[in-house]
Amino acid sequence: MNLRPVGIVGTGMYVPEKVLTNADLEKMVETNDEWIVSRTGIRERHIAAPEQATSDMAYEAAVRALDKAGLAAEELDLIIVATITPDMAFPSTACILQEKLGAKKAAAFDLSAACSGFVYSLATAVNFIGSGMYGNALVIGADTLSRITDYTDRNTCVLFGDGAGAVVLAPVPEGRGFKSFDLGAEGAGGPLLNLEAGGSRLPASEDTVKNGKHFIYMNGREVFKFAVRVMSTATDEVLRKAGFSKEDIDLFVPHQANIRIIQSAMQRLNLPEEKCVINVDKYANTSAASIPLALVEAAEAGRIKEGDKVLLVGFGGGLTWGAATIVW
Ligand code: ACO
Repeated sequence: MNLRPVGIVGTGMYVPEKVLTNADLEKMVETNDEWIVSRTGIRERHIAAPEQATSDMAYEAAVRALDKAGLAAEELDLIIVATITPDMAFPSTACILQEKLGAKKAAAFDLSAACSGFVYSLATAVNFIGSGMYGNALVIGADTLSRITDYTDRNTCVLFGDGAGAVVLAPVPEGRGFKSFDLGAEGAGGPLLNLEAGGSRLPASEDTVKNGKHFIYMNGREVFKFAVRVMSTATDEVLRKAGFSKEDIDLFVPHQANIRIIQSAMQRLNLPEEKCVINVDKYANTSAASIPLALVEAAEAGRIKEGDKVLLVGFGGGLTWGAATIVW
């Protein structure tokens, strides 16, 4: 990348208090802990309180990240919120957050790339800062998937959770920071994973509500195949662009959708388990929040040292994928 070096200078995360376990779900749909754990690796997920929306979780994560960065909200130049569950269609969740934080001079917008949204947003912010247009940015992945999940559909309701992860980006010394990105989309796969109603194609109506069109639809098997494929191609590509080998990577931070997808990526990379962040068991798939929750949790647990090479990779609705390498 022909930009000044940009890195992560502050991290923060938030998950709501309420925990929904597999045992709880057994009482709601015909499923069982054994099926969920063996097929997905998920044991529990956090669920937003009725009064909590995406911007509320984003705010909690943002305050922590700004504090770690030692940056006042008023000094922020840019806020990007990656989400597919904004508080409302408009204004953007980023604008709502800008007001809550008091980040008066920050430009603010949302970015929609489902579970790849955080990596897409990092790439966007790195270009803004790297080019010199802005001095810093707050990038957040936040989703309240519980609001668009049908808790009578066992095919999807066991998979999702709520949360938010935030990072502050700023210029860093030469040799550090983001080294490469690989972003992509396969729009033809859009119908495999979508939420049909509530937009301009199919506005909300009595029928759309009755037919469950405001819930996530997913063709799990096809998304699984796509995921396994692009996790590996995006990883290869982002390593190539950075000039890194697989062996160079100190920590692998994959999107937390399904332990089997993560394991297949690790096998291909020949990575030992201690080099991979796995928290899908505690949080399930939190969409745009998934990679930042994994990254922030690892950083806060002391799993990343200065100079470590970290690889982020995810996939999601769109269909989309995104990968990044960072020298911490
Ligand atoms: N409990 C018990 N049985 C279940 C459950 C459940 N919760 N869910 C499905 N089953 C049943 C199915 O009905 C099916 O039964 P059948 O064979 O009689 O039809 C059987 O289990 C097996 O179903 P499969 O679809 O073959 O199960 P698979 O092993 O593929 O796992 C899963 C399903 C977990 C959904 C997997 O395909 C997957 O993880 N896909 C990727 C999902 C993903 O990553 N999505 C990202 C979306 S996030 C975003 O962008 C918002």
